[in-house]
Amino acid sequence: MNWLIHDYREDDLAAVVHLIDSTAELGQESVFSLAECIAALTARQPAVVAVHGGVPVGAALAQVAGERAWVMRIAIDPAWRGRGLASALLRELERRLVEARVRRIAYVLPQDELLGDGLHNAGYVRRPAAAYFEKAEPAAGRTADVLAELGGRLLPGDLWDKVAGMEAEKTLIERRVVLPLAEPERAARHGVRPPRAIALFGPPGTGKTTFARAMASRLGWPFVELLPSGLADEGSLAAGLREAFARIGELERALVFIDEVEEIAPVRTGASAMHGVTNELLKLIPGFREHDERLLVCATNSVRSLDPAFLRHGRFDYVIPIGTPDEVARKAIWSRFTEQRAAVDVDALVAASDLFTPADIEHAARTAAQAAFERDLATPGTDPAPAGAGTADYLAAIAQCRRTVTGEMVEDFTADISSHARV
Ligand SMILES: Nc1ncnc2c1ncn2[C@@H]1O[C@H](COP(=O)(O)OP(=O)(O)OP(=O)(O)O)[C@@H](O)[C@H]1O
Ligand SMILES: [Mg+2]
Repeated sequence: MNWLIHDYREDDLAAVVHLIDSTAELGQESVFSLAECIAALTARQPAVVAVHGGVPVGAALAQVAGERAWVMRIAIDPAWRGRGLASALLRELERRLVEARVRRIAYVLPQDELLGDGLHNAGYVRRPAAAYFEKAEPAAGRTADVLAELGGRLLPGDLWDKVAGMEAEKTLIERRVVLPLAEPERAARHGVRPPRAIALFGPPGTGKTTFARAMASRLGWPFVELLPSGLADEGSLAAGLREAFARIGELERALVFIDEVEEIAPVRTGASAMHGVTNELLKLIPGFREHDERLLVCATNSVRSLDPAFLRHGRFDYVIPIGTPDEVARKAIWSRFTEQRAAVDVDALVAASDLFTPADIEHAARTAAQAAFERDLATPGTDPAPAGAGTADYLAAIAQCRRTVTGEMVEDFTADISSHARV
């Protein structure tokens, strides 16, 4: 009277579920729920089934996480207990796990589970100091849903470090915005209240969006961008805004970004169609400000066309100018985009690119790289391969590049700083 053990197959599912389900009350418990077991089986995680006379009488399943595997469950038909089936299933399961390059196998069992001795014999060492803690997070799934509905997501963790140069703006934003939010208790000891809303203004391509994303990355908060076009899908733009802020209220933490906010909150003139939308946003901000662990970042190229009530104290904590990079900042940005190629005379590029925005520099660098690439294509058989764009390529690209920021824009920006900035 013996059993056969085979790899789990799809048509075993009902029988295995029945085994797991019907043996749970018999002391064959697991810290993994039935749903988790089914999910693992469906995802083709390693599992084996013992059959006698065509009838499944035991199953063992595991879940692989990198070099470690967790035994999720060994379920044995009560009639087959005490005959070594559990050990046999475990052995077979282990073989699969070793094939899957697992280096460490863990099995968490209830204190009084009888299998304990068998595990010892199978070479498992009990870790007496280990205690299993568990916390149910019923809201986790819902939070993920809300975030997906809002089109929000967690950004890579290194975006802050990738902002080249711009040290003055970086330091300011770090001290005023990021650190009080990241270390609220420390800030509170000094009576500093973390900001809840900030505005970034400056000419196109200076890095406003880049900074907003970098802040979310640095804080480890999801980044949720509200786009007027997407909000209007819900009917009216005002209703869309209301709905979006209600959903954001369900998130534990978030950085909410509204780009080109002058489109949503322009100066309210008598007949403006946006009047209601501006009012709606003004009404929503106080509620938003009541929650910890959230930050509204609004960006604009045209701070002077915003409704004056919009940016006032109490709504926005800081109104921060982001201008064109100075020489030091340009040097850092050029170094980033020339990939620290030693032969390139970065100082010459810095001198030739006065008033260039980071976006202009990025564009010129791409143009130069493309020119070098095309030259390489046109001269086949060169060996060793040419080292890519040189100083001349970059200078040519700079000369060719249409600068975004004009003298007039610089004057306007300087005037805007004295009339609007609050840092
Ligand atoms: N400090 C920086 N270092 C390197 N690249 C940067 C930096 N700032 C911006 N960039 C690059 O320049 C481009 C434009 O930046 P970004 O979109 O953030 O500007 P913006 O101020 O939001 O522009 P707009 O006003 O047009 O929305 C992006 O491709 C970004 O990667
Ligand atoms: Mg932008």
